[in-house]
Amino acid sequence: MMKYSFALVITLCMGLGHAQKFDGLAQTPPMGWNSWNKFNCDVSEKLIKEIADAMVASGMKDAGYQYIVIDDCWQIDRDGNGKIVADPERFPSGIKALVDYVHGKGLKFGIYSCAGTKTCQERPGSHGMERIDAKTYAEWGVDYLKYDWCFTEGIEPIAAYTAMSEAIKEAGRPMIFSICEWGLSKPWTWARDVGHLWRTTYDIRDWYDGEINGNFLGWSIILDKQVGLEKYSGPGHWNDPDMLEVGNGRQTNTEYKAHFSFWALLNAPLIAGNDLRNMDANTIEILTNTEVIAINQDQLGQQGYKIFDYGDSEVWCKNLYNGDYCIILFNRASSRQQVAVQWEMIAPELAADSFALRDLWKHEDLGDFKYGFNAEIPSHGAKMIRLKKRYKH
Ligand code: GLA
Repeated sequence: MMKYSFALVITLCMGLGHAQKFDGLAQTPPMGWNSWNKFNCDVSEKLIKEIADAMVASGMKDAGYQYIVIDDCWQIDRDGNGKIVADPERFPSGIKALVDYVHGKGLKFGIYSCAGTKTCQERPGSHGMERIDAKTYAEWGVDYLKYDWCFTEGIEPIAAYTAMSEAIKEAGRPMIFSICEWGLSKPWTWARDVGHLWRTTYDIRDWYDGEINGNFLGWSIILDKQVGLEKYSGPGHWNDPDMLEVGNGRQTNTEYKAHFSFWALLNAPLIAGNDLRNMDANTIEILTNTEVIAINQDQLGQQGYKIFDYGDSEVWCKNLYNGDYCIILFNRASSRQQVAVQWEMIAPELAADSFALRDLWKHEDLGDFKYGFNAEIPSHGAKMIRLKKRYKH
């Protein structure tokens, strides 16, 4: 008897603790593409197919990108049974056929909905319809759901995201659950068992800095808002500082490299947001830099953090699985300047160590350095280096 009730208690506890998300997914930050940053509501099956083709042809699939995520505006209505209906003009073959096409390329498919009564672009939301929607996505073969937070007056975030997470689990198809609540209720404090990633801020824009009404943010402003969130990120549960803007045209190549460097260091999902069909060589070089991607996908899953702030220049660090470190030297000033790191900033006991340095953008070994390293960095630029310990003094 004792034995049975003990087993029952264990089962119940496990049931309660892990009632929601699919475990085992997103053990490293998800990589893929999302339609929103570049195309907004201008989405169609033609576009999504061409993007899937381009993801393979450009080498992005080989570099690790996997998910093709269609954001807002694919949906138009619900049918008499409450089932969500895709815009028949833009998706004449239906979503299932599109998912099959994407799967046929060896890629995975993501979709978008909203915890509110409507999506942000006023399409039907999933509030109260979580089960039927999750079931529909599962039937279609969807692998990833981004779930937004518009039109949620009177709705409680933990309950709303838990309801969808449970509905996905019940529908039975493993899906990454991407919580897009903009950080309002500090999802890093409650979402670990509910979703696989959570947005930490409002929306990114294709700017280095700048901010409109606190709603649209340049990436360096988003970067500042990640300080202190490091401890909440890890395998299966990531902070999401929003999708990439690399290649969308409003920043310099130096700024895009810095943006990508930081998103890699922060364990951000690497979700490209540009037109993959028309990428210039610089954009492809950034998005497929496998040495930088390896920092993001490092199996330790420990988010990078700021170790020194001189105002206009900063030093950031990420600890890696094999004992290496990744360092970013960042220049926020409007002109070139020297930025320096001393190994003791990483940890006092490393002060007099020697490290072999590798420049992850030049793909070049820089030699052995004792005590520290400094370099001249262009305005808004980031030097990203990998440190391998050589010997201790
Ligand atoms: C919100 C989200 C964006 C995008 C749009 C779509 O603003 O934060 O990422 O999904 O909605 O309408």
